[in-house]
Amino acid sequence: MGSKFAVFICASLLVAFANAHYHPKFSYTGPHVGPGKWGSLSPDYSQCDGKNQSPINIEKKNIVRSSKSEYLTRNYKPANATLINVGYKIELRLEGDAGSLLVDGKNYSLKHMHWHSPSEHTIDGNRYPAELHVVHHSEDGDAAVVSILFQFGDPDPFLDQIKDHLDQLAKETCDADEEAQIPLGVLRTKQIRRTTKKYFRYHGSLTLPPCTQNVTWIILGKVRELSKEQLAALKAPLPEEYKQNSRPTQPLNGRTVELLKCD
Ligand SMILES: *[C@@H]1O[C@H](CO)[C@@H](O)[C@H](O)[C@H]1NC(C)=O
Ligand SMILES: *[C@@H]1O[C@H](CO)[C@@H](O)[C@H](O)[C@H]1NC(C)=O
Repeated sequence: MGSKFAVFICASLLVAFANAHYHPKFSYTGPHVGPGKWGSLSPDYSQCDGKNQSPINIEKKNIVRSSKSEYLTRNYKPANATLINVGYKIELRLEGDAGSLLVDGKNYSLKHMHWHSPSEHTIDGNRYPAELHVVHHSEDGDAAVVSILFQFGDPDPFLDQIKDHLDQLAKETCDADEEAQIPLGVLRTKQIRRTTKKYFRYHGSLTLPPCTQNVTWIILGKVRELSKEQLAALKAPLPEEYKQNSRPTQPLNGRTVELLKCD
């Protein structure tokens, strides 16, 4: 009895220490560490109070139709991937050279992808059940994120590829643990780079602390489908307080959202 108690205390202290060391705790609800407080939780998070934050509501009547006709060029390569329960999101990290995305003549390397539920971006106020963020970094440290919105429907083929691993992640995750990781081997990214005829583009930030700005956002115009079972599998490994991990939409503050079409 006594030793069980000691083990419990020890695990709690380790978690508390890990959180304090790596990042102050933030959450999606509540008055203390919820989204309205992110900017004051740490000097490292001050950009969360910035003027160019994400996500946003995309209002179709206010978008600027770009005269440019720019295909989204994604040269992704086969790469080994690891599925990770970060605690507040499920992430797929790619190792080595996983290829790149070309935006406005600048190259961004594919680094990782993660899911939010419900969606963070909204279109004319409509929120979708899920949103996938495919994150790329340039050599000079800027980020470009490709966002794919999901509505309920047929299973998503990409999530089908990792379904068993998500179930395994849910089993391996206990509440007082570090990041649980599952190596996936070489991942097929065909469904992720499927061509798109229309997308929205604007300048924003990461939607998680430290909310780093100067992120180029590319939101695909085509809403894809996933099944309710797939969404449940994505949420299962996450602790109760992060099963909904969607930051509220942020003021546009005069930014423009461009619509790009390629035919
Ligand atoms: C994936 O990892 C395996 C084992 O480490 C390695 O042999 C293989 O070359 C890697 N594949 C790619 C595409 O990086
Ligand atoms: C964003 O980029 C602009 C110019 O590209 C620069 O002036 C500004 O300082 C950058 N902001 C941040 C937060 O990095």
